[in-house]
Amino acid sequence: MARIIAGVSSSHVPAIGAAIDLKKTEEPYWKRVFDGFGRSKEWMARQKPDVVIAVYNDHASAFSVELIPTFALGCAAEFPPADEGWGPRPVPVVKGHPALASHIAQSVILDEFDLTIVNKMEVDHGLTVPLNLMFGSPKEWPCPVIPLAVNVVMYPPPTGHRCFMLGRAIRKAVNSYPEDLRVIVMGTGGMSHQISGPRAGLINSAFDKAFLDGLTRNPQKLVRIPHVEYMREAGAEGIEMVMWLIMRGALDDKVKEVYRFYTVPASNTAVGHIVLENAPRAAHRRGVPVPAKRPSTKGRRAVAHAAH
Ligand code: DHB
Ligand code: FE
Repeated sequence: MARIIAGVSSSHVPAIGAAIDLKKTEEPYWKRVFDGFGRSKEWMARQKPDVVIAVYNDHASAFSVELIPTFALGCAAEFPPADEGWGPRPVPVVKGHPALASHIAQSVILDEFDLTIVNKMEVDHGLTVPLNLMFGSPKEWPCPVIPLAVNVVMYPPPTGHRCFMLGRAIRKAVNSYPEDLRVIVMGTGGMSHQISGPRAGLINSAFDKAFLDGLTRNPQKLVRIPHVEYMREAGAEGIEMVMWLIMRGALDDKVKEVYRFYTVPASNTAVGHIVLENAPRAAHRRGVPVPAKRPSTKGRRAVAHAAH
C-alpha cells in the first residue's frame, strides 16, 4: 500500500530560480535564502521518496486567462519546463507517475472533488523552483512528480477548507493504491506578498509565522481564514498559501515538525518553509522489518484512525 510519509511547504519566488540559473546563489542576498534549505535538502535525500505530489500554481504559463481550472491534476508521463518569457528554465523535464495520478483522479473524483485531468502541460517556476529548493540542481529529478495545479491567480480561488478536504481525499486515494510507495506532498507558494498596486512589497511576518505555527499545531484554525483576510493581511498574492492546506490535509492530524525556515525578503516575497512528518509506520521505514508482535490497543487505534 502507498503511504504519505511527510509534507513540505516552500515559497516559489521566480527570482530564486533566476539566482540558480544565473549562478548567483553564493551572493550574500541569495545565500541567506539558500542556506535555509540546506537541512531540508539533506532531509529529502534521506527520505528518498518514491513519488512527490507537488501542489502548485501555474502563472498563466500552461493555462491562459481563457481557461482556468480550479484544480488540475497532471496525469501525463512528463511535464517540460515552460517558457516564461526568457526561454524555458535549464531544469530537467519533470517525469510524472501516470498510474498513481490516474488512481488519484479516479478516487478523488468519485469522492466528489471534480478535478480537471491534464494529459499535456508545461510547468513554470511555481513548480520548478520548489523542486530546486528541495532537490538542488540534479541532471534528472530523483523521483516522479505529480503536479496538482490550483487556481490562485484569478478570483475566486478555492477556500482553504476546500483545499484541506482535497488533501484528505488525496490521502485516502494514496492509501488505497496497491503498490508500496512512499509519497511526499509538497505545498508551494507564498508566503505574504503583493506584487503590484499601492501595497506592492507588503510583507506580514506576524501573519506568516502564525500560519506556520497553525500548520503544525492547529490547521483547523487556518482552514477558516477567509480570502479577504489573506488579501488584507498577506497581500493579494498571499492567497497562494491556501495550497499549503492541501499538503496539510494530506497528512495525519498529529505531525512532527522537523524543520522550519523563514526569511524576508526574497524579491517581493516572504520566504517560508516547513517540513512535517507523519509518525512512521513500521512497514514504511526503509529497511526496517515489520515487527511480528501485535501493536498495543493505543497503536491499533492510531493506525485505524490514520487509514481514513
Ligand atoms: C514574485 C513572487 C511570486 O510568487 C510570483 O509568482 C511572481 C513574483 C516576487 O516576489 O517577485
Ligand atoms: Fe507566485
